[in-house]
Amino acid sequence: MRLSPFRFEENTFWLLDQRKLPFEEAWVPCRSAAEAAQGIREMVVRGAPAIGVTAAFGMVLAHLSGENPAEADRLLRQSRPTAVNLFYALGRMKPHWGDLEASLREARAIWAEVEETEQAISRHGARVLKGQVLTHCNTGPLATGGYGTALGAIVEGYRQGRVQHVWVDETRPYLQGARLTAYELQKAGVPATLITDNMAAYLMGKGQVDVVILGTDRMAINGDFANKIGTYSLAVLCHYHGIPFYPALPLSSVDPTLKSGQDIPIEERSALEVTHLHGVPIAPEGFPAAHPAFDVTPHHLITGIVTEKGVLYPPFDEALSAALGIEP
Ligand code: MRU
Repeated sequence: MRLSPFRFEENTFWLLDQRKLPFEEAWVPCRSAAEAAQGIREMVVRGAPAIGVTAAFGMVLAHLSGENPAEADRLLRQSRPTAVNLFYALGRMKPHWGDLEASLREARAIWAEVEETEQAISRHGARVLKGQVLTHCNTGPLATGGYGTALGAIVEGYRQGRVQHVWVDETRPYLQGARLTAYELQKAGVPATLITDNMAAYLMGKGQVDVVILGTDRMAINGDFANKIGTYSLAVLCHYHGIPFYPALPLSSVDPTLKSGQDIPIEERSALEVTHLHGVPIAPEGFPAAHPAFDVTPHHLITGIVTEKGVLYPPFDEALSAALGIEP
């Protein structure tokens, strides 16, 4: 059975606690929007599409628990700043604020669309993959609630015999690659090897990486995109080594209000996530540490953008506008 990061049962939205994976499968109940917002903020659930679905159900919980919808919306909007899917989902929930049945229908629709779009993303993405693939962070079912974006394409590419092997970046400092992508690929039976993030250049230099595919938290209309910290360095490495580089995303991860990636808000997380591993210090006590959780990759480093409407090629502003059905 496919992994799922959440389920809705008896008026409770249950989150699989991703902080404890792969060592323990524990479920956290959310019975209010405040609890859903806390689950997002504390990374019980993470990944752009998955936090969008959680926010949508958070608004359903607001009805059920009697919270003020404007206050619930505000709390959810403040939970994490970078992935636009959160704001996209809350925007879709707003017209249904006074109506529980309509809210539930809309939240379920947002979740169902994640599944549909990711089936298409996986199909289109598989076509650009071959041989040895490198990926970063976690973009599988745990990050989305569906098939996965970049990881969906990788699994489909393997099923088709196009992908032979996957290099999994551990993704410091939060280790989404080591803890979650490795766990998902193991369950999917795809041959893969874990590497630390600083090994990518070495492997590329030896000709052992044929293509890089990864996720997206927010893409501006010119194709610049925010994704997990470390994505930009992979894009630069691919450019240097002549390796194709693809972000994969549902079109709901595009923010058409942003002309370029410069205005994407980048989340700063606790320095303790850098100075400690699972609560164990790895630096002198009190030593300062920086923790930008995402970086922005400029569009000119992208080979193609994998979406549910196909793979888009430059000029990206025109291709993205056409895919979204808006004026360039
Ligand atoms: O901080 P996270 O774990 O929420 O970051 C997740 C990522 O950066 C993913 O690559 C992105 O959300 C795409 S998920 C399909």
